[in-house]
Parts: sequence; C-alpha cells; structure tokens
Amino acid sequence: MFSLPRVGAKIQAIQAIRAIQAQISCQSRLAVAKRKREGPVYGVTNVKGGRAQLGEPLVLGELGAAGDVATRAHYADAAYYTKTYASRKLDVGYYARLAERTRGPILEYGAGNGRILVPMAETGVEVVGVDLSAEMLGALAKRAKSLPDSVRRRISWKRGDMRTLRLRRKFPLVLATFNTVLHLYERRDIERFFARVHEHLSPRGRFVFDFSVPHGEDLVFDPDRSYGAPPIRHPTTGQITRYAERFEYDLMRQIMLIQMEFRPGRGDAWSVPLTHRQFFPAEMEALLHYNGFTDIRFTADFTDRPPSNTSDTLVVTCRSRRTKPPASKPAAKKPARKKPARKKPRRSPKNST
Ligand SMILES: C[S@@+](CC[C@H](N)C(=O)[O-])C[C@H]1O[C@@H](n2cnc3c(N)ncnc32)[C@H](O)[C@@H]1O
Repeated sequence: MFSLPRVGAKIQAIQAIRAIQAQISCQSRLAVAKRKREGPVYGVTNVKGGRAQLGEPLVLGELGAAGDVATRAHYADAAYYTKTYASRKLDVGYYARLAERTRGPILEYGAGNGRILVPMAETGVEVVGVDLSAEMLGALAKRAKSLPDSVRRRISWKRGDMRTLRLRRKFPLVLATFNTVLHLYERRDIERFFARVHEHLSPRGRFVFDFSVPHGEDLVFDPDRSYGAPPIRHPTTGQITRYAERFEYDLMRQIMLIQMEFRPGRGDAWSVPLTHRQFFPAEMEALLHYNGFTDIRFTADFTDRPPSNTSDTLVVTCRSRRTKPPASKPAAKKPARKKPARKKPRRSPKNST
C-alpha cells in the first residue's frame, strides 16, 4: 500500500513523464514536418514534362531560381494553360487599347501562347514576343497559322531569357504581361531584366507591366492543406479531373510555391509546381527608381483608377532615365556672355559645416 505522500509523488512522476512524452512526440512531429520542408528530396529530374508524381515532397527551399523547374512546369502544358486562362479578358482589352494608341512596334516579354500578343497585333501594330517556354511559343506558332495574313505578318517571336536576350532593336512600348515579372526571383534577376528593358526602349518609350499584389491573407495558407476547386475536364487527357492547390510561402525570399494537384478518374495523379516572387508595391517602386526608371505610375486592375487596399493587380507605367531624348536641332549660337567675376568666399570652405 502506498502512503499518501508517496502516491502524490508517483502521480507527479507520471505527470512529468507524460509531459516529456508529449514534448518528444510534438518535437518529432515538428521534426518530420521540418524534414518534409527542408530535406534535399526534390530535384529537377523528377518533374517530367512539367509533372511531378503526386505525394512526392516538393521543397520550396530548392525552388525559386529563374528558369528552374517551377518557372517552366506550369507552361509545359500549354493546352492546359490556354484553356485555364481563356476567360481572362480584362488584361487583353487593356493591352489591346494601349497597343492601338502606340505607333511603332511593341516588345512583349513573357508573350507565351500569344493570348495578349495576338489581340494587340489585330489592332494594326507590329508585336515582337519573347518567351522562355518552347511549349508556349509552340502554341503561339499554331495559333498564328490560323490568323489572316495581314495580322500574321505583324507578329514574330524569339525564344530566350528576358534577363539576357538582346534583340538590338528599339521599341516605343515594352511590356511584361500577366505576372511575367514574378519569375524574377532575386535582385540580380531583376537588375538584369531592367537593364534589357532600358536597352530596348526608344527615347521617351514606355515600359508597362502588371503584377498581382500580395495580400497578407494569401501568404499564410497551411502548406499541408490542399484547397479543392470544382473538377475540370483536362484538355490534354480529356478526362474529368479533380483539382486542388497548395500554397507555401518563403517569407525571407518572398517566394510563393503553388502546387497544382490533378487527380484523374483513371490513371496516376500528378502535381505541377509554380513559383512566383511576391513584390510589394513600395518595393517595386523603389526597384524601378533605383534601376533608372522615372515617371513611375501605378494603376489598379487594368483601369485608370489609383490602387487601393482592395486592388488585386497593379499595372505599372514608367520611362527610362537612361535613354536619351531625341537630339533637338542645334540651337543658333548665342553671343558669349561675359563671365561674372568670382566673389571671394566670406568663410573658408574648410570651416563650413
Ligand atoms: C503568366 S505567363 C504570361 C503569358 C501570356 N503573356 C499571357 O498573358 O497569357 C508568363 C510567361 O513568362 C514566361 N517566362 C518566365 N520566365 C521567363 C524568362 N526568364 N524569360 C522569358 N520568359 C519567361 C513563361 O514561359 C510564360 O509564358
């Protein structure tokens, strides 16, 4: 039989052991969760044609470099991209109106499948597209075949990286449409891209681009939860497919990993990664300012309205401080003015504060 103090001591000991057990189990659960996020388990090699096997852990820590698998995967299935964004029209109308008002050729970075490029060319201007994705440009080439000759003659494209490609031409309007700039993940990527924009802008030319503005609530999704959407008929497989998305945000690098999960009725499920750098408005304004742009103006959601707390997309218009304005006619020589005599300083410069 236990004496009362001994029973009390035993209860205390049991409670202490339980607390330690709970702590260990909590720590090991955390360790597993951490391993899932930080372990070197994901490489470029296990994403074939843009698809990863569902259930294979994707580690954001290893993604988010310009041109890496999570930049390309989403665009590898151009038929899926084309179907998914076919109803997105606000930006198409906005850029087509801008094209109509612009005399001279337009350069569009991230032209992709021509969703915006073709309607711009239909307004009567020449448009040159640049894109990294062979699949997206393949979709544009296919689309171009069905265009009237007059429009087809006005479009051309070049596969390449927007950070490095040099076309050795000047354009009065340079665009980066539909979140293309979100594929610039690091400061160096942004600096290189902005340098290319300067090179391609004619004097007084405009650089216009849009990007989704991050809202606080979008950055705190639980990466272990998938958020389902209504099933879709997948354009590539033709099958009714359950669809869900996962979001994981890297706070320090400001990169969002979106994993799109597809579960068809028959066959294997798969996921497609996509990484987007998140830019905050004042940060973007500062990046443009310190990279040689001026007359920087933000509007909201493809309107002329100024942005507000409810804006989803910011459209930025700016000009280069680096391109020289066209040389004006040499002014008639003025008679040389007599130099005024220099006044003696009242204080020695050394003593000025
Ligand atoms: C969201 S899509 C926009 C496509 C099209 N403009 C539209 O509005 O539907 C972004 C495009 O940027 C391209 N892209 C991503 N990184 C790039 C890079 N470093 N250089 C050139 N293009 C890139 C992708 O291949 C993709 O086609």
